[in-house]
Amino acid sequence: MPDILIVGGGLAGLFCALKLAPRPVTLLVAAPLGEGASSAWAQGGVAAAVLPTDSPDLHARDTAIAGAGIVDKDVALSVAREARSRIDDLLAFGAPFDRDAAGALVPSQEAAHSARRIVRVKGDGAGAAIMAALIARVRAAPSIEIVEGYVADDLIVREGRVAGVFARDPHNRLHAFMARAAILATGGVGALYALTTNPPQAAGSALAMGARAGARIADAEFVQFHPTAIDIGRDPAPLATEALRGEGAILVNRAGKRFMPPLHKDAELAPRDIVARGVFAEVAGGRGAFLDATQAVGAAFAEKFPNVAAACLEAGVDPAKQPIPVAPAEHYHMGGLWTDSHGRTSLPGLWAAGESGSTGLHGANRLASNSLLEAVVYAARAAADVSAALPSIPDPGAAPAAPPAFAPDAAGAREIRQIMQRHVGVLREASGLRAALIRLLALRDKAVAADNLDLRNRAEAALLIAAAAYNRRESRGGHFRTDFPQADPAQAQRSFISLEEALSL
Ligand code: SIN
Repeated sequence: MPDILIVGGGLAGLFCALKLAPRPVTLLVAAPLGEGASSAWAQGGVAAAVLPTDSPDLHARDTAIAGAGIVDKDVALSVAREARSRIDDLLAFGAPFDRDAAGALVPSQEAAHSARRIVRVKGDGAGAAIMAALIARVRAAPSIEIVEGYVADDLIVREGRVAGVFARDPHNRLHAFMARAAILATGGVGALYALTTNPPQAAGSALAMGARAGARIADAEFVQFHPTAIDIGRDPAPLATEALRGEGAILVNRAGKRFMPPLHKDAELAPRDIVARGVFAEVAGGRGAFLDATQAVGAAFAEKFPNVAAACLEAGVDPAKQPIPVAPAEHYHMGGLWTDSHGRTSLPGLWAAGESGSTGLHGANRLASNSLLEAVVYAARAAADVSAALPSIPDPGAAPAAPPAFAPDAAGAREIRQIMQRHVGVLREASGLRAALIRLLALRDKAVAADNLDLRNRAEAALLIAAAAYNRRESRGGHFRTDFPQADPAQAQRSFISLEEALSL
C-alpha cells in the first residue's frame, strides 16, 4: 500500500502525483483519466505574469479587484509570484503552450486582467492540451498506481486523523483505501445544478466528505456562474469562452438589442457575475440571450475557437454567421475545504488542491484563468508538504469493514439539481433559500436512512452552499441576494460554516 492517496484525476490531482514522483502514490479517479475532469474542458488558460510589461503585483491586484473585497491579498501575491515556476513545470511536462518563433510564451488577454497574461494553447484548447500532456506523463510514471472508475464517498478517520477513504467500484461496492496522507482534488459542485459547464462527477463530494469529518468549510456561498454557456439543450452545457467577448463579440437579445451597455461601463467585458446577471435577466424575461461573434470573429471562428465552433455546429448553429444562444451556468465554486498556504485542510492527514479547496485566492468572484493556476500552485505545495510530513505520520492501520453497497439515487440527484438551480442560483432570496434548505434536509435524511452515501454527499454539499447563502445577507461577487442587493462593508470577510450549522438552520 503506497503511503499517499490522491483522489481526483483533474489538473490538481495529476500535477500533485507528478510532483510527488518518484514517491509512490495511488491516484483514485472516478472516470477513466481525461474524462470527468473540468480541467480538460478549460478553454481559457493559465494566468501568469510572463511579459516584461506585467508583474505578479499587477496580477495579484487584478485578482483582488475581481474577488470583490474578500481575497486574501497575501495568498494572491504568493500565487502570482509562483506562477512562472509552475508554467515552467507544465512546459517540462510537455504542455504545448503558444510560443513565438523565438520560443517565448505568447499570452493573451481576458476580461478584468490589466495585461496580456493568459498562457494558452491554440485559441480555446488549453485545458485539453495540458491534460493530454500530463496524462501521458502520469501513465508512464512507475511510481503512480492509477485506480480508475472508483468514486470516493467517505473519509476514514482514526483518532482524529484522516486514514483513507471508502470508494465505490463500478458495481457499487465500497472498498477501503488506507493512506497516511490523503489529498482531495475531486473538483467542484457543478453537477448539483441543473445547468452547468462541469462534468457529472463534479458533485461536491470533497465538500461533503470533508465537512462530515469535521473539516472547516470556507466561502461555500460563492458560486460562479459563467455568462455564456451554449444553450443548446446539452447536459453539461458546452462553454463559449470569455475570450470571444475579449475579441469583440457582443451580447444581444432575440430582438438584436445589446443589453450589457446600460448595465456596466465595460458592457460585455464587465465582471463575470454582472454579465451573468445581465444574461439571466434576458433569458428569464423571455427575450433570449445570444453571443454574436459574426462581426468580431466571423469567418476566422473555426480556426480561432475550434472547440466552441464544433459544439455550435453539432447543434446546427454556424457561429461564423449566426448568434450563439447562451445562458448562465454553474461554472466554478470559489468555496470548498479551507486550506492553509501548504494546501493543508483543518483535518490532520488531509490536504486539498484545485477546486475542492478554498485558499482565499478567489474571494467572492474568481478572475478568469486563475483556476488552473491555483490548481498547479497548490498541488505542488501539497506535494512538498506531504513529502516533508510523511516521516512523522503514523501508519493508518488495517482497513475497516466497508459500508454496504448501494445504487445511486438518480431521482434524488435530479431533484437537488432543480432545487439548487431555482433557489441557490444566479439570484437568491430568503424565502427561496429556506424552501431549499427544508427540502435538501429531507433528502439528506432519506439518504442517511437508506445508507446512500452518494445522495448524502450531494445533499450535504448542497446544504452547505444553501446555508452559507442564507447566512450572507448582502450581495458580493457571485453571491447575489435580491433581498439584500448591496454589498455591506461590515460583511466584507470570508465565511466559514460547519455541517452541524448547515443542518440546524
Ligand atoms: C472561459 O474561457 O471563459 C473560462 C475561463 C475560466 O473559467 O477561467
